[in-house]
Amino acid sequence: MTSRCARSWYAIAPEDQAQPGVERALFGGRVTVTAADPTRVELDGRALPVCIRDGVVFAWFDPDDGPPTFELPRLNARGWTRSSVDTLTCAGQPESVMRDLADYAHFESTHGYIDPRPRRGFWSDGHACGLEVDFHWPIVSHRSWPTMVAAFSNRCAGLGYQVSDVRALGGRFRSRHRVLPTPIDDRRMQVVLGLEVRLALPLGRLIAPLIHPFVRTAFRRDVGDDMRLWARLPDAESDRGDEALDRYWAWADAFASDRARRESASA
Ligand SMILES: [Fe+2]
Repeated sequence: MTSRCARSWYAIAPEDQAQPGVERALFGGRVTVTAADPTRVELDGRALPVCIRDGVVFAWFDPDDGPPTFELPRLNARGWTRSSVDTLTCAGQPESVMRDLADYAHFESTHGYIDPRPRRGFWSDGHACGLEVDFHWPIVSHRSWPTMVAAFSNRCAGLGYQVSDVRALGGRFRSRHRVLPTPIDDRRMQVVLGLEVRLALPLGRLIAPLIHPFVRTAFRRDVGDDMRLWARLPDAESDRGDEALDRYWAWADAFASDRARRESASA
C-alpha cells in the first residue's frame, strides 16, 4: 500500500513541545512550527490551518490545498487526571490504525480481551466513524488472573484522531485513550498517545493519579500489540469481502486527495 496523501487533521506535537523550530515529517514533506503563540505551523513555507485540542497541536493537511472540512472534538477535562502523552514511531499508515475499529476479531485475537460483544457495530457518519463493544478486560495478564467488565466506546474524526472511552465498575472507573497517527512517509508514522483516568469514588481524585501509570502501561502494551497489525499495511484489496471492513475502506477513501485519485486512475 502506498500513501494516499489523505486530507485530515494530524497531530504535530504536544502543545508544550510545539516550540518554534520543531520539525516533523508529513507525507515526505517537512512541517515546521514557526511560532508558539499563536501557534503557527508551515509546510515548505506555507502556513497550515492549526487547532489545539487537549494539549496537542494539530495541523490540517490537504494536498489539494482545501480548507478544513470538519472540526476535531473537544474533550471535557474536568474530573480527569492530567494527560500523559507518549510519542512513538512505527510502521504503518493512519488508515491502518483506524481500521482496527472495523476489525472486530482483533479485540480477542490481538489484545486478549475476553468475550467481546458489540453494543454498536462499526458505524460511520461523514468524517466520523466508531465502534462500541463490551468485553472482559484482563487487568494483570492477557491470559489469566482477574478481569474487569469494561464498556469500550471508540470514535474517530478523520484519519488522524481516535479517542476511546473505557468504563468499568459501573462507570466509576473511566479511562480515555487518544491515538493520533501522523504519516511520516509511505511506510512509517508518528503516533501520539494521550491518556487520562477518572475515578468516581471517595478520594477518587487522590487515587486516580496513582492508578494512571498502570493504565498507561496497559495502553502502551495494547498499542504495541496493534503495531504488529499496522505494520502489515492492510488495504481495501486485502480486506475485500468482510462487510465491516468494506464499509471502513469506503469511509477512509473519502479522505483521499483528488491528486491521489488522479494518480491512481492514471497508474
Ligand atoms: Fe487494537
